[in-house]
Amino acid sequence: SRPSVLVARAVFPETLAKLRAHFDVEDNPADQIFTKAELSAKLAGKAGCFITGSERIDAEVLDANPQLRAVCNMAVGYNNIDVEACTARGVVATNTPDVLTETTADFGFALMMAAARRVAESEHFLRRGEWTKWSFDMFAGSDVHGATLGILGMGRIGQAVARRGALGFGMKVIYHNRSRLAPEIEAPIGARYVSKEELLRECDHLVIVVPYSAASHHAIGARELAQMKPTATLTNIARGGVVDDAALAVALRERRIAAGGLDVFEGEPKVHPDLLTVPNVVLTPHIASATVATRRAMADLAADNLIAALTGAAPPTPINPAVLPLKK
Ligand code: GLV
Ligand code: GLV
Repeated sequence: SRPSVLVARAVFPETLAKLRAHFDVEDNPADQIFTKAELSAKLAGKAGCFITGSERIDAEVLDANPQLRAVCNMAVGYNNIDVEACTARGVVATNTPDVLTETTADFGFALMMAAARRVAESEHFLRRGEWTKWSFDMFAGSDVHGATLGILGMGRIGQAVARRGALGFGMKVIYHNRSRLAPEIEAPIGARYVSKEELLRECDHLVIVVPYSAASHHAIGARELAQMKPTATLTNIARGGVVDDAALAVALRERRIAAGGLDVFEGEPKVHPDLLTVPNVVLTPHIASATVATRRAMADLAADNLIAALTGAAPPTPINPAVLPLKK
């Protein structure tokens, strides 16, 4: 008989149709957010699941569902999955790298530019009807072109942000990462590997693209913000929790840094109330990969991973390939 799978959130009809060609699919057309207990119950009898960053798969959920063989995330980040627990139980976990790299980098650049040039702040001013005259320093921000771009986390997306800065805007690129890039990757963008301290001290615009883990929790807090230039901007397109949002709100309010651009938040969709009242920050609801084409590509890749994993083929983008091939 056909394997049963759970599609834990609403997705494109085409994605469901593609999965229904192979599986008995339980979907979630109401797009309800399941509690952990609900998710665990929904997974009963399922061989695999299609999830998003909002669903957490941990050891407890896996132990309640020993029949589960594949966990396929429609996201590149996978801090919502306990990969070690999956591996220990022979469950393959997959993500959606590559297909969202350029789209996400575009958005990171958009947020950084919006922060530097005060786009959101000035738009709110105009909508409030407060624009009565032009003035010499009205919403004067800082230049992006020719400035120093600092990147924390130089993976695929970090490199794509760096290319935009170096090749399109004549920016000097410095970065900090767990490891240094190969010289042939550094050279065309003139990227210079620096310590975290130097990154914070030297950059005019900091873009954070590091995956969330225990090691990156609050990688940017009060101490780090204090090392930045008062004219600098900070953009987070990585994950909530990499930045200490409460400390950032204080730094923005006290103008210890000039502006911020945030697409991700600790505890989202809740946003720290202090951020909501700080004027010099642009806030977006985790949409960096949200173009129609890229969301389709992500859904397609997640579905392809699930189909391959449960039909004995090699999933295109496994996180823990060591568990492959899966036993039937
Ligand atoms: C989105 O945040 C993703 O990880 O794809
Ligand atoms: C993270 O996976 C990245 O692509 O930078």
